[in-house]
Amino acid sequence: MLNLLKQIIYKTIKKLGYTVEKNKPVGKNFDILYPQKLQNDFEEIKKLNGFLNIEEMNLFANLINAQPQNNNPILEIGVFCGRSLTAMACVSNLKTVGVDPFFEDFNNKYAVKDEAIYLARKTGQTTAQERIKKIYNSLKILDKKNKTNLKNLVKLEIKLQDEFIKNRNKEEKYQLIHIDGEHSYGAVKDIIDEFDNLLVPSSIIIIDDFLNYSHPGIAEATYSHPNYKKTIFPILYGFNKGVFMFKPKSQEYLNEIRNKILAPYSRSLHQINKLSDKSITIRLL
Ligand SMILES: C[S@@+](CC[C@H](N)C(=O)[O-])C[C@H]1O[C@@H](n2cnc3c(N)ncnc32)[C@H](O)[C@@H]1O
Repeated sequence: MLNLLKQIIYKTIKKLGYTVEKNKPVGKNFDILYPQKLQNDFEEIKKLNGFLNIEEMNLFANLINAQPQNNNPILEIGVFCGRSLTAMACVSNLKTVGVDPFFEDFNNKYAVKDEAIYLARKTGQTTAQERIKKIYNSLKILDKKNKTNLKNLVKLEIKLQDEFIKNRNKEEKYQLIHIDGEHSYGAVKDIIDEFDNLLVPSSIIIIDDFLNYSHPGIAEATYSHPNYKKTIFPILYGFNKGVFMFKPKSQEYLNEIRNKILAPYSRSLHQINKLSDKSITIRLL
């Protein structure tokens, strides 16, 4: 009887376009539901070196889906080997700009002074040119599989964020930004200072390693910024990221977006808490 019920549930879930990861013990690695397409795309994306996992890619997808349709491009600071950039392009199908100097040697670079050994190890000893080539190759494979045109939608700006801010096309404004470059107070403050010029109202801001005690400057730069809770409002903390909204239409709108983002998460699989400012914390159980 129980088995029959299980089969019916699995069949229904499959019909909805999801799969159940079977054979995972309940506990830390329990059954997790992800859309089948996301799982397939992640299989390709994870061939790139980097840090993004499927939960984070799923978060990107949920954030993009919660945003009202608009065709502004999206931006990433800190591309590394392109995992999150490719994932963002893949789930959004929007023009996706990635800013990174593509350091040949991570050592002796002030911008990555706390992470140099870690990053150098993760590159798998590839040169900058090889890393760039691999990104475009991945996009080509995804395009072939999904009949998309990501290869032409992704633009790499091979420079530091400061140079990008100074020399970029000022006409272009973004609807989502993923901040994962220099993990310092100064760099995060500098990019937040630019939000008025960079972002359209109701943009989503995703900051990686938020409240990670290895990089305390990231949260400090956000919380101490004069625009915090004036034009920048917290939405959600989870999956090693802080998510904020720039200039939401209203507090009601902000709550609507929070609810939309939460909708795909199952309360039986995730621990979800509301903070006093109505932002949300979420983690896998
Ligand atoms: C943690 S990695 C990014 C990881 C990447 N998002 C992923 O999916 O794997 C940080 C990246 O930020 C870049 N970076 C460091 N300082 C920067 C700066 N000032 N401007 C732009 N990128 C920077 C580094 O070159 C490095 O590739």
